[in-house]
Amino acid sequence: MSLSWFPGHMNKAKREIAKAMGRVNLVVELVDARAPFSTSNPLIPDLRGDRPTLTVLNKSDLADADATARWVRHMEAQPGVRAVALHREQVREAKGLIRLGRSMLPADRSRDKAIHAVILGIPNVGKSTLINTLVGRTIAKAANKPAVTRAQQRIQLGKDFVLIDTPGFLWPRLEPRECAMNLAATGAIADARLDLEEVALHVLQRVSERYPEALKRRFKLTDLEASPEGILRQIAGKRGALRKGGVVDVQKVSEVVVFEFRQGKIGRITLEMP
Ligand code: G4P
Repeated sequence: MSLSWFPGHMNKAKREIAKAMGRVNLVVELVDARAPFSTSNPLIPDLRGDRPTLTVLNKSDLADADATARWVRHMEAQPGVRAVALHREQVREAKGLIRLGRSMLPADRSRDKAIHAVILGIPNVGKSTLINTLVGRTIAKAANKPAVTRAQQRIQLGKDFVLIDTPGFLWPRLEPRECAMNLAATGAIADARLDLEEVALHVLQRVSERYPEALKRRFKLTDLEASPEGILRQIAGKRGALRKGGVVDVQKVSEVVVFEFRQGKIGRITLEMP
């Protein structure tokens, strides 16, 4: 599978964001709690400078709670960073982000100056959903289509808090391959660009290493084969994806694995640890 970005697009994105950063005094980054490193944006450390940064580990309902707690501690070990686990049902907690963000700014900040918080996140991480929750109505269309771009929006949240939503053209971390696979597994890369079998094998590799019981439970398997290819074949047998002569319908079984992982049906799983 080959995934790449055009340098022209990257430079344009970088310029747009650098421009938007001018008045920003708080950075909010959303990552996917199932793969917090892979879904973080590689540009942010450069762009944020020394601005306080609030990292939201979103979709935490789909991630392993212990792993999320470890990620929160790991992220908060960086200077100026606070990290919070969140998911879309947590309306009160989402609204609490504004208070937390405010508390992260220097105490000697001039009181009459509004807070300008930029919200960043790779596509599909749940940014529109969170913004809608914060605003209390649907202002941005939530669509499961990575790389849907919108014009920059300024959203007033209370009298002294402006949220700046950048268009969704920040490119994700496609190198190394492990990151690209984690992005694909979580749904951050459009499926049309993916080799679904490769993604399914990646999911099975990571899940069988750390959550073998969840895999057995979901697919009613008593034992797991040693290799992801073997497990894929076992699942094919359980899910009617074996053709005559025992030939695996690779597309069908790969869809089962990837979509059930994305929906959290295999369990609450985190693909990478700090
Ligand atoms: P984006 O703006 O960052 O691109 O993401 P968006 O809010 O559109 O969310 C992408 C998908 O992720 C949506 O699903 C959304 O409902 C889902 N989502 C957002 N936050 C959470 C969360 O905390 N937990 C879970 N489990 N899912 C979340 P969709 O398939 O496009 O639509 P639907 O499921 O809402 O029908």
